[in-house]
Amino acid sequence: MIIARTIQELQASLQEFEKEGKDIGFVPTMGFLHEGHMELVKESKIKTDKTVMSIFVNPLQFGPNEDFDRYPRDEEKDIQLARNEGVDLLFLPTVEEMYPNGNLTINMVVTKRTDVLCGKSRPGHFDGVATVVAKLFQLIRPQLAFFGLKDAQQVAVIHALVEDYHFPIEIVPVPTVREHDGLAKSSRNVYLSDQERLEAPYLYKALQKGREAILKGDSISGIRDYLTAYIENHTSGEVDYLEIYSYPDLEMVIEDQQPVIIAVAVKFSQARLIDNIIITQKS
Ligand code: PAF
Repeated sequence: MIIARTIQELQASLQEFEKEGKDIGFVPTMGFLHEGHMELVKESKIKTDKTVMSIFVNPLQFGPNEDFDRYPRDEEKDIQLARNEGVDLLFLPTVEEMYPNGNLTINMVVTKRTDVLCGKSRPGHFDGVATVVAKLFQLIRPQLAFFGLKDAQQVAVIHALVEDYHFPIEIVPVPTVREHDGLAKSSRNVYLSDQERLEAPYLYKALQKGREAILKGDSISGIRDYLTAYIENHTSGEVDYLEIYSYPDLEMVIEDQQPVIIAVAVKFSQARLIDNIIITQKS
């Protein structure tokens, strides 16, 4: 595995891949790699010749009250994991390398799809995501880029970025990796108490009930109320939101419109869990 810490090193390796006529698959991450990331790499290795991963904790996507400095980092372990999974080129830039003058002259502003779900409580977050992803797309110029559907709102924003700015890149959304009982894998699951860990699979159970109700044609507001009560009755968590929107537009659902997303965030004592399910007629 080649490790590139500077843009110059990155581009030298990419030129070699290009000379060999290789298709590039790109997996952007902020490191502290887990199975979810590995699933993206696996998909990339199936679909492309060379997999490029970036690890960059992007300060632009953290709000003033969100602790960028405390975001977990373990470079040595990440390098090992990426190597074991067969990543071909790992881009590990510093903040200075990505933002040489402290900040950029031009930043992306996402004007739709972000005033709901997690975007509602994290103003500016998706502007930072779109800005860094645009920069990484421009630097790496992959044919395919892989994003986890666990963060379906991010996937919706990236789809808009590619469409609006004509990046010749296919976005490949990768399904959420789950534990045997349906709980979406997340590094935050370790913060659940034993009792909360038993309760947490009810998020996914609720989403599945929601899928049945949507396909049956029940009313959106009825489903929303029923699922919120279902989670509150089966867990000690506090439902932060449980929303149903069109996908990927993330707007109010007009009768029988599909695909739709049911997205949920629940606060447990030490962890806030998110999950979602996207429903199309065929699924
Ligand atoms: O999903 C993430 O880890 C980040 O938001 C991303 C896409 C790597 C941009 O910093």
